[in-house]
Amino acid sequence: MDQASALQNSSSSVKVIAVASGKGGVGKTNTVINLASSMAALGDRVMVLDADLGLGNLDVMLGLAPQYNLQHLFAGEKNLDEIIVEGPQGIKIIPAASGIQEVTHSGTREQRILMEQMSRYAGEIDFLLIDAAAGISDMVTSFVMAADAALVVATPEPTSMTDAYALMKVLCNRYGEKKFYLLLNQVSGESEARQVYNQLSRVGEKFLDITLVFLGYIPKDADVPMAVCRQQAVVEYNPESPASRAFVEVARRLRRFPIGSKSGGLHYFWQRLLNGGSRDQK
Ligand SMILES: Nc1ncnc2c1ncn2[C@@H]1O[C@H](COP(=O)(O)OP(=O)(O)OP(=O)(O)O)[C@@H](O)[C@H]1O
Ligand SMILES: [Mg+2]
Repeated sequence: MDQASALQNSSSSVKVIAVASGKGGVGKTNTVINLASSMAALGDRVMVLDADLGLGNLDVMLGLAPQYNLQHLFAGEKNLDEIIVEGPQGIKIIPAASGIQEVTHSGTREQRILMEQMSRYAGEIDFLLIDAAAGISDMVTSFVMAADAALVVATPEPTSMTDAYALMKVLCNRYGEKKFYLLLNQVSGESEARQVYNQLSRVGEKFLDITLVFLGYIPKDADVPMAVCRQQAVVEYNPESPASRAFVEVARRLRRFPIGSKSGGLHYFWQRLLNGGSRDQK
């Protein structure tokens, strides 16, 4: 690479998208792996951070058995290059530690370590997708708040909808977040998705004054659990399945959205993350 293009690359900004949900088990990890591989297939350079630090299973869902993970990074035993594993379509995956309780309490120190090591990748990736844990812990909210876009995954179940609303309420009331992208998963079709979106969007607008952007929907599809059992992304397992087609459609839409209004790229993402961390400790 010549100097000019290296310079151009290093200044290009990475779009950081945090994928969160109120309720667990709604499909965040599936969303992250399928969107990431679809975006990579469309030509983007994608990195994925498994930020479900205590119970991360993104690697398991892809049949990867990483030797090292974030725990080794935080302990200073390995650097980021050594823990990253490659997923479908060449996506770069940062595996979470699994079942390690201390890591779930990760704070500023750990985030700083990640920041220092990740800043080296700034010119090498277009999108960073973050698989956040379910719920509204400080760790989740700080990742979501630091990201350029908050993508909320929900299903039409009333419990998922109320928990999605609760998550947005916390992010709005505590941090002033005013815009969310909604992806509805496990829906019967477009009309159900629109109906759920309308309901959530109406209450969000009325009581929180937030904007909810409809990103799309993924149908309930038996190929998704099949792919999970085969430890493959469904877009790889069966590209023709309804869920796979929907993921590709959503990926196309997502890469066209003018995300990045918080701007500044990866460096500022980490700065916001660290600021969020210190704000949480007050
Ligand atoms: N579109 C779909 N159609 C059918 N089943 C689905 C669909 N999406 C997800 N599932 C099922 O839901 C399960 C949970 O999905 P996933 O692990 O992605 O959720 P999650 O939100 O990451 O969960 P957690 O909060 O535990 O991290 C999957 O194993 C799969 O069987
Ligand atoms: Mg998950």
